Amino acid sequence: MSAKIPIAVLLSGRGSNMRALATAAASPDFPARIALVASDRADAPGLNFARQNDLNAHVLDRGTAHGRGSFDAAIDAAVRGSGAELICLAGFMRILGPGLVNAWHGRIINIHPSLLPLYPGLDTHARALADGVKLHGCTVHHVTEGVDEGPIIAQAALTVSRSDTADTLAARVLTLEHQLYPAALAAHLTGNDLPEQKAAIFSLPV
Ligand code: GRF
Repeated sequence: MSAKIPIAVLLSGRGSNMRALATAAASPDFPARIALVASDRADAPGLNFARQNDLNAHVLDRGTAHGRGSFDAAIDAAVRGSGAELICLAGFMRILGPGLVNAWHGRIINIHPSLLPLYPGLDTHARALADGVKLHGCTVHHVTEGVDEGPIIAQAALTVSRSDTADTLAARVLTLEHQLYPAALAAHLTGNDLPEQKAAIFSLPV
């Protein structure tokens, strides 16, 4: 296969989606490799995992980056410095400014824990339960200026059970996220559909 495309993963916490991407990227057949794991939080567990696994781990220094513009510039510099060609947000709790989003137009993707356009923003699982929806899931989408509004790349859905709480639903959706993000990234980079065995739970826009 052709050379792997270098990607940057931005996170703020646990980093389980980054780990799912790193696991997938370890396969010779996966079209991407992780060139950078960057976090706005020095104590993010995901960053520790990256360090322990010889990934290029970087702290985006909020202390020296005053204001959104310079913080965006710090992100841009770190990503460009790593050679990454695509930015994958994975639990990155900062909103990217329009300058950065436009500079990387079409080259920033995010995973969100709901079936967008339902439940953009926070507390998606509790809101889904409060509404009594029977289907819930996660979405990989392009990042645009509007938060959680960019074009959808892929989604995975599950049925909500009567016994679900916000915590059980979060855990079940997270398991789907770990399958969806690598599959959606690979499909996005190769221009292919998701593998057939995943088509039952994943759907790509035609
Ligand atoms: C995930 O639920 C993701 O969809 C959301 O933030 C959470 C990050 O979890 N954007 P993790 O850090 O990848 O474990």
